[in-house]
Amino acid sequence: MISSLAQIGDALISSPSTQRARILVVDHRPLARSLTVDILCAEGYQVLEADNGFDALQQAVKELPDAILLDLFLPGLDGLSVCRRLKSQANTQSIPVIFVTVAENRESRLASFAAGGADFLRKPLDRLELMTRLRSLIAQKRLNDDLQRTKQVLYSIAQALAERYSERSNSRLEDRIALTEAFGTYLGLPETDIRALVDTTLLHDLGTLTIPDAVLLKTEPLTVPERDLIRQHVLIGEQICQPLRDLQSILPILRHHHERWDGSGYPDGIAGSTIPWLAQVFQIVDIYDALVSERPHKQPLSPAEALAVLDVEATRGWRNPKLVEQFRIFIRQQQLEAAIQPDA
Ligand SMILES: [Fe+2]
Repeated sequence: MISSLAQIGDALISSPSTQRARILVVDHRPLARSLTVDILCAEGYQVLEADNGFDALQQAVKELPDAILLDLFLPGLDGLSVCRRLKSQANTQSIPVIFVTVAENRESRLASFAAGGADFLRKPLDRLELMTRLRSLIAQKRLNDDLQRTKQVLYSIAQALAERYSERSNSRLEDRIALTEAFGTYLGLPETDIRALVDTTLLHDLGTLTIPDAVLLKTEPLTVPERDLIRQHVLIGEQICQPLRDLQSILPILRHHHERWDGSGYPDGIAGSTIPWLAQVFQIVDIYDALVSERPHKQPLSPAEALAVLDVEATRGWRNPKLVEQFRIFIRQQQLEAAIQPDA
């Protein structure tokens, strides 16, 4: 819990939106470089300088500038290679790269964009054009960074909530994510769907935010109003994530992960294949994971016992029988693979 709250604080206070933008200028010609630096300094930017590709990469990783002005032709590691490397690394891939060159032609422009460049300018630089492009790219980058941070805050809150009532440790969460990814891969889901399932795994507890502990942690049978209150969690989770464009793909999963195959679930009572496919997949993993996990009020079931419960639920009409069968085969396969793995 403490680590999650610390992460929330870190994410909230680390927003650089109000900081002065930093630009890395990469050019091996001292005169051209200093002309660009002068323009940027006069406009109030913080400026970093590099005269070769290797130094540019090092500074980009260390300083994480808001944008990079990159000469296309550099001795040693050329501009295209630098850009490709920046775009292949998670921590630098969001930094916009503007290529700058004296020899503009169609081929070099196309190659620059193919390498991940955001823009292409010709030397000598036009001050107004440079400023207009930089402002727009930096604004876009900061918006994306802010969205990323917002997601991070939501993840941390969801994790803190999960720990509150289920003693779900980080390692348990990692196991759960690995199981989700493996089942998604087994089903042949595209990468974007697997990502949505993992995001849902991280965020679906958000909906418990407004439910009091007295209800959430109650071990006796729930009253009807208490049950209705708990059922609200699917709608609250959906509402919290709704404004984030990045999370649109998980909204149907958040809303429908407690529907039942025969229509007796909630919140909408939809049935069969009208239940979004990813909500069905998430639900099976969610139920199985809950059954095999230790919780304050219950001992974990064995995998065979948990699969038997899913079978009973499929027979009752609550779960998609074909999907439960696929999950059973998947778990068996996982167990066989684990059995033949040599001990670490
Ligand atoms: Fe739920």
